[in-house]
Amino acid sequence: MKQHKVSFTETVLRDANQSLIATRLPYDKFEPILETINKAGYYSVECWGGATFDVCLRYLHEDPWERLRKIKAKLPNTKLQMLLRGQNILGYKHYPDDVVRKFVEHAVKNGIDIIRIFDALNDTRNIKVAVEETVKRGAIASGAISYTTSPVHTMAKYVEQAKEMQKMGVSTIAIKDMAGIMGPQEAYDLVSALKDSVNLPIVIHTHSTTGLAFMTYLKAVEAGVDVIDTAISPFSGGTSQPATETLVYALKQLGYKVDLKTDVLQEMADYFKPLRNEFLADGTLNPISMATDTNCLTYQIPGGMLSNLISQLKMMNALDRLDEALLETPKVREDLGYPPLVTPTSQMVGVQAVQNVLAGERYKNVGAEIKAYCRGEYGRTPAPINPEIKKQILGDTPEVEGRFADTLAPAFRAARKELGDTARSDEDVLSYIAFPQVAQKYFDWRKAQDEKVVKYTIEPVK
Ligand code: CO
Repeated sequence: MKQHKVSFTETVLRDANQSLIATRLPYDKFEPILETINKAGYYSVECWGGATFDVCLRYLHEDPWERLRKIKAKLPNTKLQMLLRGQNILGYKHYPDDVVRKFVEHAVKNGIDIIRIFDALNDTRNIKVAVEETVKRGAIASGAISYTTSPVHTMAKYVEQAKEMQKMGVSTIAIKDMAGIMGPQEAYDLVSALKDSVNLPIVIHTHSTTGLAFMTYLKAVEAGVDVIDTAISPFSGGTSQPATETLVYALKQLGYKVDLKTDVLQEMADYFKPLRNEFLADGTLNPISMATDTNCLTYQIPGGMLSNLISQLKMMNALDRLDEALLETPKVREDLGYPPLVTPTSQMVGVQAVQNVLAGERYKNVGAEIKAYCRGEYGRTPAPINPEIKKQILGDTPEVEGRFADTLAPAFRAARKELGDTARSDEDVLSYIAFPQVAQKYFDWRKAQDEKVVKYTIEPVK
């Protein structure tokens, strides 16, 4: 039997970097290997978006836009990919449409070829503008399904979402399993269903956290998946993606067509291995992140969320209430209409579950985010929110009618005016809108650096 071609997206610069070492990989540390990566034969390299933007500005003294331009210069033959949280861009709230459009425009202008766009609630109204603008700017829009399991997340619903995204103009459909909870049968069924109903390449993304990933990918490939997300071996496994080389080896053995060059992958692995050891030695990489953790399968909650619950309870000196919090979490999720547990909904559900347990009364204490969620500021929930609880939380506060972003005034021009000379480009303005304090601190640091250089040139060291 003739097997189809399987393409690869390398995640070492974004998701692997984010999942294993909290996105702390500075540009200088990976620059020497970029020209090699360019020769490997990847479908794409995911290198931007997600947490990279924030961390560049906040911790690495890097301008994320400049990083992107530098990567582009070294990877001219490989498509650069980013992850975009729809109307949230890279943050946790909804931005007005003009900002979303400007952001997409400049991401493409600075080098991005593929934008994977998702919404935490799978509300397609929240990805529509980003998809439209991506297509308009000549880049590839990949519409992502945030994968989760619940009584209301049926195969039919995912297929319907994929069809809707196809109508919007996406070029590929991505299945995004952020928690690594998708099993091989689920992958087989979902990929098969999507292949039958949309006429687009299908991409699959998962994490190795629970140990299912290799099996999940294999069954996805058997069902005809076109692209898989993997990480070069030293930065693979655990909370990251499964290893690129392993999948290349196995899929070639099974007769699938794979275009990746194994000698180039070897060179990459040789480069990243000592780098991983450096991060292990300085504590940035916790060996626990690389281990298999099946708790997520038992509790059906992502690994990151479980560790958040534990640290929250520890802080409140109430770690003995963990079992209760774990029982309460799925109940809160049900009350809130089964949101997929991905940022930001995972934090919201987790915090509320802890509050409910510690207060001894459910929804006595409710945070601002949960109120906004109940008002409809995050979009349409997969199932209706429990009406009694909604009433208890909202009281007389009116609900959002229609799409929340429609109620937001344009913000780009105002931000540019506010920044004045501080902003040297439209990109600076966008950094500022996304992360105001963090960007301002970066701008101050940058200015101080420039002044140092100027001073040095005027009066050489005495
Ligand atoms: Co991921």
